[in-house]
Amino acid sequence: MTAIQTLTELDRLRATVAGWKRDGLRVGFVPTMGNLHAGHHSLVALARRHADRVVASVFVNPTQFGPNEDFTRYPRTPEDDAAGLAAAGCDTLWLPDVATMYPFGPDAAVRMHVPAVSDVLEGAHRPGHFDGVCTVVARLFHQVRPDVAAFGRKDYQQWLVVRRMVEDLAFPVELVAGDIVRESDGLAMSSRNRYLSPEDRARAPELHRVLLRMRVMTQEGAVRAQVEAEANAALREAGFVPDYAVIRTADLCEPVGELPGPRVALIAARLGKTRLIDNLEFDSALSG
Ligand code: PAF
Repeated sequence: MTAIQTLTELDRLRATVAGWKRDGLRVGFVPTMGNLHAGHHSLVALARRHADRVVASVFVNPTQFGPNEDFTRYPRTPEDDAAGLAAAGCDTLWLPDVATMYPFGPDAAVRMHVPAVSDVLEGAHRPGHFDGVCTVVARLFHQVRPDVAAFGRKDYQQWLVVRRMVEDLAFPVELVAGDIVRESDGLAMSSRNRYLSPEDRARAPELHRVLLRMRVMTQEGAVRAQVEAEANAALREAGFVPDYAVIRTADLCEPVGELPGPRVALIAARLGKTRLIDNLEFDSALSG
């Protein structure tokens, strides 16, 4: 197992990364909010395949939570996170505090906004969420200066938003995406799964089953409105309160007509007090 170095001061992080770069090493980065699970560990492994050294950050970012969201109760498990990261092959854990991340305070921070792709679906239901994500990811990129950074496809829209920011601002970082990691019953791994009561945990895999059904219906030629209506009804039937259950093109536009091509089915739904998101990428022309 790699011995992990935990850093809380920006000067020390910069000196560590600069030393690696002087030695000609490529630096990988995995940004997280902690309470890490196998999905995060797979991102460390992915970053490792593209780099010689890997930094992971743990920072519960206040600017991406809405006023009535779970910022204060978001699970914080620093010891477990450090042990898991070490086992996954991470070299350095970057653990900044709020003052390091936001020297003028979160409310006075310079903010990012990626138009259009930030404003639909998650962005429409969580106003300002992606501004907060991009605001912190831009800062983390400035702090760590990675050559390559890994993000999970479970947060599909976040992946598109970050990619757009990096391209538009010409950040000198390569982005790689890791596949969704699921529990054996299909539930996508998420730090928020631990909020689920035992009854809701038993119901939660229905989210994935509905996504699979959306794919089958689309590939069998059902019209999108019908696929989405049936998905919403199935979710309600299973005890969810859906925010959306939609089929979109890979860049999150509404498909025009029924022209075949890459699609993504996306769901956000509440189960009790827990809001879950998941998605499934597929090609509408293929079946199986
Ligand atoms: O995906 C997450 O955990 C967060 O949105 C991120 C990218 C670490 C920014 O806080």
